[in-house]
Amino acid sequence: MCGIVGYVGNRNVTDVLMQGLKSLEYRGYDSAGVAVRCDKNIKVIKSVGKIANLEEKLQGFNDKSTIGIGHTRWATHGEVNEVNCHPHSVNNVVLVHNGIIENYRELKRELELVGYSFLTDTDSEIIAALIDSYKGNKCDALVYAQMKMKGSYALVIMFDDEANTLYAMRKDSPLIVGIGENENFVASDISVILPYTKKYVDIEEGEVVKITKSEVLVYSENGLVDKKIKTALWSIEDAQKGGYEHFMLKEMNEEKDLCVKLYNKFIEDGNYSDDIPDISSYNDIDIVACGSAFYAATVGKYLIDTYVCDRSVRVNVDVASEYRYKKHFYGDKSLVIVVSQSGETADTLACLRMANSLNVDTLAIVNVPSSTIAKEAKLVMPMLAGPEIAVATTKGYFSQVLELSLIAQKLGYIKGTISKEEKKLLIETFENLKSYLIPLFEIDYSTIASKLWFKEHIYFIGRGIDYIVGLEASLKLKEISYIHSDVYQAGELKHGPIALIDNDTPVISIITNDEIKEKSLSNAIEAQSRGASLYLLASENVDTDNLKIDEIIRVPRISEFYQPLLNIIPFQFIAYEVAKLKGCDVDKPKNLAKSVTVE
Ligand code: G6P
Repeated sequence: MCGIVGYVGNRNVTDVLMQGLKSLEYRGYDSAGVAVRCDKNIKVIKSVGKIANLEEKLQGFNDKSTIGIGHTRWATHGEVNEVNCHPHSVNNVVLVHNGIIENYRELKRELELVGYSFLTDTDSEIIAALIDSYKGNKCDALVYAQMKMKGSYALVIMFDDEANTLYAMRKDSPLIVGIGENENFVASDISVILPYTKKYVDIEEGEVVKITKSEVLVYSENGLVDKKIKTALWSIEDAQKGGYEHFMLKEMNEEKDLCVKLYNKFIEDGNYSDDIPDISSYNDIDIVACGSAFYAATVGKYLIDTYVCDRSVRVNVDVASEYRYKKHFYGDKSLVIVVSQSGETADTLACLRMANSLNVDTLAIVNVPSSTIAKEAKLVMPMLAGPEIAVATTKGYFSQVLELSLIAQKLGYIKGTISKEEKKLLIETFENLKSYLIPLFEIDYSTIASKLWFKEHIYFIGRGIDYIVGLEASLKLKEISYIHSDVYQAGELKHGPIALIDNDTPVISIITNDEIKEKSLSNAIEAQSRGASLYLLASENVDTDNLKIDEIIRVPRISEFYQPLLNIIPFQFIAYEVAKLKGCDVDKPKNLAKSVTVE
């Protein structure tokens, strides 16, 4: 979604802004623009499409400017064109905005009555007019705008008549101030500041920040705030490709070490450490998330239902955009778990806030430590995955599944449904997880991809946990290769979906669940006898002798607490290879955003 960068210092500002905008590209955008102060006035340059188009426009613009703001836009109000692209200016005010102003129509009418007219269809231009309409001190103008606006915003503002200062404020949309030596930054994303500094301060709701190259002054209603300077834990290398062709490929490869990192964090002397939340005092647990995080949540529910099932705990999962509008009857033993890589997903955040406001205990499984969800949840389990840049999550999902599995294991152990001996075996498997994963990273997935990339429809089938992994596998394929793909419970195939099977329709059957492997195999064969070409992801003990299978990928059979982590790897690679063969933009698929900060 939209991204913001602002800079004041001694460097050439267009260089800093362009580097910042490039590091924000992964969030998804459709146009970009910058505003830089030239001698006496502020010059705004915008372009539709890739950042490269803006870069082209900036060529020959060799101003020595050292202060400016930049923005990547993901259209919400008004179509994608240069006029609607940020920065927006109204008289003395030039600004960039992330978020949505819900009452912008009402504000627009008020401003029109006092003589303002508007060029764009955006809510952001209204903010510029609103700030401009206040006659007086600039900080007061920003506080006035805060009082009038309903909705979410991260704003960086320049005033035409104040040459060396940037102003910033935020509500429900991320924004940090990066602290440098005689230079300062403002950004919606920590990756923007990492090439220059690891020091930053958070901006809280209601604060107004005044930034020059030598100081950062933060005001709240009680006056000047003494802000704590934090240090980012991620390095610039973490946020770069490190020799890989794509971020997605790099991030998939990081899964091998991520499981070791999580083992070291969450296992202590052969036991579940205190860092794994103990949720045994709750009998009513809702796990809420969006996209892949929701599918990870679904694995979590399955594991608790299957292995901790002692009637003392009920687990419900829901997508956040639905959950937030449903009625909930919480008791004093209710817990809401939110799962989010970015920690900024608007619907997930809304659910967290709803639960917090009703005094329900909340736990966040979240990756970005400086995110709003990480700050507002009562309890946080950090995903420790490092920056995830590719829009399609891989290591993020991996970490979410593994952490939910650990929560389920600890819960089962405390409740006695997992014995001491079983716990020992589970922890041993965790310790060896990397060795189970490595062979899956050594398979050449290009053969299978070469058979799939030109297909229009691809179906996944599976039962139990295999079906749940299929949900994520199918999503990965859709997201980055744009092939229509769906997943069905294998047993449901004959109740409708089998009508979709034609000659050569690829059906990918996932069979790693021992108890029902024969049944799953029969379902796959049913599809094949209707003409489907059959692909199998199966554990070693699934007997396929005498069967004609197009391609088969074997995965080791391990405890279901970890099996999904093995099963998803081949599908992440297949989606990646298929997308590459189709010439798709693997890291930045069309229409998608990494962090969906609007409803
Ligand atoms: C977007 C991303 C998905 C992600 C989902 C939830 O749709 O493209 O990859 O799974 O948001 O994101 P979160 O940051 O809350 O995990």
